[in-house]
Amino acid sequence: MRTPFIAGNWKMFKTVHEAVVYAKEFRSMVKDVAGVEIVVAPTCLAVHAVAEALRNSNVAVAAQDLHWEREGAFTGAVSAPMIKEAGAEFVIIGHSERRRLFGETDEAVNRKLLAALAANLGPIVCVGETLEERDAEQTLAVLDRQLKLGLEGLTADQVADLVIAYEPVWAIGTGKVATAAQAQDAHAHIRGRVRQWFGGTAAERCHIVYGGSVKPDNIGELIQEPDVDGALVGGASLDVKGFSEIVLKSQGTARPGRS
Ligand code: 13P
Repeated sequence: MRTPFIAGNWKMFKTVHEAVVYAKEFRSMVKDVAGVEIVVAPTCLAVHAVAEALRNSNVAVAAQDLHWEREGAFTGAVSAPMIKEAGAEFVIIGHSERRRLFGETDEAVNRKLLAALAANLGPIVCVGETLEERDAEQTLAVLDRQLKLGLEGLTADQVADLVIAYEPVWAIGTGKVATAAQAQDAHAHIRGRVRQWFGGTAAERCHIVYGGSVKPDNIGELIQEPDVDGALVGGASLDVKGFSEIVLKSQGTARPGRS
């Protein structure tokens, strides 16, 4: 059974204090939620404090990025073991903002993915096309390239435990959400590739979540799609009530078709 997976990516928002206030309120708002995997991703500065605030709750913590080396002279970077020790269970890798604004390549994504797995962190690996690529009918080719290079060298068991976030760049922070059908088409394609490259078990078990202008009023429609296993939520996750609503609306959407 694939349990719906809902993660809030706070990007560069919230101080440590603000993040902890949110976490305390959020944990009580979702304490009775069952059957949804819930994750919040604060800045790396707040990972430890938020993990403490969410200890023994049904909400896990993710970091937003990592460096692939364990340690070394890499000013400004943090490593997978450091993130793990600080209390995170997941890490976002290859977000389009990292790719676009910080020059992250598919090869870097792959190194980060392998480092996260080695440290027992659950990767949330992001893929998605730009508007120009969609208009040029390159969407599936872009997804193929990002997945092929990004997942290079992973075992079928590792892929089975992955969360792959399909985030069309044109839908991020624009209010322009992909239609449920557009999301389903891309997700089905991704699952098909996972099946082709890593086998049926990996394809059935891995989570493929959608990201890009997810809000309380569109999550219901998106998550009804058979290959949409949850969401990676940016802007709408900054508001504790709105994010709780998204989580609540995702309850009861695990189904045998997702097993
Ligand atoms: P928005 O929900 O703000 O569009 O951001 C999506 C995203 O980038 C999540 O990682």
